[in-house]
Amino acid sequence: EPIAEAAPQDEALPKIPLFSDLPRDAFIALFERCPLRRFPEGGRIIEQGTKGDAFYVICAGRVRIVRQTGAEQRELAQLGEGAFFGEMALLSGAPRSASVVSASEETQVLEISAPVLAGLSRSYPQVARALRRFCRQRLLSDVVN
Ligand code: CMP
Repeated sequence: EPIAEAAPQDEALPKIPLFSDLPRDAFIALFERCPLRRFPEGGRIIEQGTKGDAFYVICAGRVRIVRQTGAEQRELAQLGEGAFFGEMALLSGAPRSASVVSASEETQVLEISAPVLAGLSRSYPQVARALRRFCRQRLLSDVVN
């Protein structure tokens, strides 16, 4: 039937641990609401030091997280499909803590704006909890490394 056909197939949806507790309909609605952005290799998705008003979920490809301190540039992490980034500035109001650069031929990211995240967190507190938990782990690993 047309309705069944219009719905994305499960295997076509990326696996995103952050949203694993989200009901399937809400997950699909999120993909319909948020723009999917594509970046070629080397494309700069986030610039360190700028203001942040969205966070990103990797639907395809890979990114490098790079921090510049004075003249020194250091790679903090590489993230692949299903991972997310850009949550720190959004949760803290601080400037972007690092730059994020596409590390594959084409990286596709779902851009989730602050108001969309706020609505999602209200309806699904487990998403907000998961986001804070991941964020804490990153902050800790930054202190340790
Ligand atoms: P934000 O500060 O908004 O922008 C840069 C992003 O890089 C940051 O959010 C995190 O999502 C990500 N990031 C910063 N430090 C790390 C880290 N140690 N490991 C993984 N990701 C990081």
